[in-house]
Amino acid sequence: MVDPANTKVVVVGAGLMGTGIAHAFASSGYPTTCVDVSTEQLAKMRKSVEGIVAGAVKLGKSTEEAAQATLARLITSESLTDSLPGTTLLVESASERMPIKLEIVAEADRLMGPEAVIATNTSALSITEIAKATKRPERVIGMHYFNPVHKMKLVEIIKGLETSKEVVDRTYAWAKSLNKTVIVVNEWPGFATSRMSAMMGNEAMYMLSEGVSTAEDIDTAMRLAFNHPMGPLELGDLTGWDTRLAVIQHLHQTLGEKFRPCPLILKMVKAGRYGRKTGKGVYAYDEKGEKIPGSGLKVSI
Ligand SMILES: NC(=O)c1ccc[n+]([C@@H]2O[C@H](COP(=O)([O-])OP(=O)(O)OC[C@H]3O[C@@H](n4cnc5c(N)ncnc54)[C@H](O)[C@@H]3O)[C@@H](O)[C@H]2O)c1
Repeated sequence: MVDPANTKVVVVGAGLMGTGIAHAFASSGYPTTCVDVSTEQLAKMRKSVEGIVAGAVKLGKSTEEAAQATLARLITSESLTDSLPGTTLLVESASERMPIKLEIVAEADRLMGPEAVIATNTSALSITEIAKATKRPERVIGMHYFNPVHKMKLVEIIKGLETSKEVVDRTYAWAKSLNKTVIVVNEWPGFATSRMSAMMGNEAMYMLSEGVSTAEDIDTAMRLAFNHPMGPLELGDLTGWDTRLAVIQHLHQTLGEKFRPCPLILKMVKAGRYGRKTGKGVYAYDEKGEKIPGSGLKVSI
């Protein structure tokens, strides 16, 4: 059923997630185009993918030949319009803003064949609302990946109100072909993953603001008491507090008071402290991306 070589994939957004998703498809044999409005971001994406494939060769998980084939299958473009014809699957992974997503899927709907599927990697937004911007709501679906995509095993498939069973089955098969474990959930704000993760990150920020403990100790508590691989503040730095804030604001709007964004997150975003991607979030990072010891944000006066 899955025929990677004859399935053209377009990934929109060459940020943290688009990079990992584009690599996942290209390394699994799909001709893949990654589209972004930013040339700089596309160059960064290419460099990151080169790093991932080189790392796999070094670890003996891939051959040099397979690495080169992955890079050859992955092309970049600044033009969504030029990239769309002949596409079987579009994975939208642009910034977490509804107007941006609506514009992308409307353009995809206009230029992709009637059988093509439009998937979105939104963390929390309504698939049904995104689908409404197209004339094919039954062919629009959530295909939610996790960061870093080449290490994280899960893909969460989200059914919008009108997503067809055929599209769920096809998307499921594509996600399995990337060697992922797949769950299928019904659309509800934050799905089965982001809702919980946003709640923990927000609560950890309240604890930091209230002076319960240091950033380092809040993270250590979650790692060692509950066996989380990383603490909620470290995870927020990895996700990006700009994206985190967009998700929490949406959950606050749709699910109510329990998701009121912690003011410290708003303050951090205003300061440009998005996390690893800007070199500073709750923690500071050196040029190699290593966390600087003792750099946890201190909020007491
Ligand atoms: N960061 C995470 O851990 C994570 C995890 C799962 C899902 N997501 C979701 O994935 C999506 C992308 O998040 P990210 O963390 O990669 O963000 P990011 O900020 O790293 O990247 C977003 C990219 O989208 C590009 N972009 C913006 N408007 C565009 C347009 N009109 N056309 C093409 N490209 C455009 C930007 O230039 C940027 O490169 C969001 O919907 C987010 O909620 C993020």
